[in-house]
Amino acid sequence: MTSNTIRPLLAAKGITKTIQTAAGDLNILKGVDMDLRPGELTLLMGPSGSGKTTLLSILGCILTATGGELKVAGEEAVGRSAEGLADLRRRHVGFVFQGYNLFPTLTALENVLMALDVRGSRLADPVAASSEALKSVGLGHRLNTYPSKLSGGEKQRVAIARALAGRPSLILADEPTAALDSENGKAVMELLSSVAKDPTRAVLAVTHDHRTLSYADRIIRIEDGRIVADERPRDSLIQAAA
Ligand SMILES: Nc1ncnc2c1ncn2[C@@H]1O[C@H](COP(=O)(O)OP(=O)(O)OP(=O)(O)O)[C@@H](O)[C@H]1O
Ligand SMILES: [Mg+2]
Repeated sequence: MTSNTIRPLLAAKGITKTIQTAAGDLNILKGVDMDLRPGELTLLMGPSGSGKTTLLSILGCILTATGGELKVAGEEAVGRSAEGLADLRRRHVGFVFQGYNLFPTLTALENVLMALDVRGSRLADPVAASSEALKSVGLGHRLNTYPSKLSGGEKQRVAIARALAGRPSLILADEPTAALDSENGKAVMELLSSVAKDPTRAVLAVTHDHRTLSYADRIIRIEDGRIVADERPRDSLIQAAA
C-alpha cells in the first residue's frame, strides 16, 4: 500500500468558522483542508490569533464549524447533535489542553480514571489501564499524587496519559510544551512522537516552540485562518540527500 492510499484518520475540507461579534462577523477560519494520516506527528504553527486553537477544537469535535466537511476516523462529524459530536469525540479523540485541565482534588490516577469513565470505556480493569497509561509517560511513581504536588512537566504528562488512556486514534495537543523548560519539553515531545509511531494513531500538536520542530513528520502553517504551507521535512531531507 502506498502512503497515498492510506485512509486518513481525519479528513477536513473547506472548514470555516465565523462568529458574530459586536463589531460584526469575524471570519476566524477561511476554508481549511487537512487530512491526517496514521503514524505521523504533525505540528500546526502560526502567529497568535491565526486560528490554531479554534481549528484544533473543531477537529477534536469540541466546537462546530460554520461550514465545511469533517470526518473523524471515517465517521461524519457535520450535522451531529451536541451529544452525537460528544460521542464521536469520546470514541476517537484524546485532547491535551494547554492549561493541563487536571482536577485538583483528584490524584494523577483518579484524573486518568475519570477520563476513562467519561469516555464510557468498558475496559475490564480501568485501574490497571490508568496505571499503565501513567507508567507509559514515566509517572508510575506518582499514581497517588495530587496535581498541586506535581511539577509542570509531570502535570503535562498526566494530561497526556489521560488523553491516551482510552486509546483514541487521534491525539490533539494545544501547545503541549509552552509552559515547560527544555528538559521537560523534550520529554513531552519524545512521548508524543513515540505515540505517533503507532500506525493506528495520528498526533496533531499546536506549537510556537521551535525546539519541537525536529520531532515533526509534517509541519502545517496557518496564517489569518488559512493554511499557507504544508511540508514533510524528512521527505525534503531525503530528497536533498538523493
Ligand atoms: N469566542 C470568541 N469570541 C471572539 N473572538 C474569538 C473567539 N474565539 C476566537 N476568537 C478570535 O479568533 C482568532 C483566533 O483565535 P484562536 O484562539 O484560534 O487563535 P490561536 O492561533 O490559537 O492564537 P494563540 O497562539 O494566541 O493561542 C483570535 O483573533 C481570537 O481573538
Ligand atoms: Mg491558541
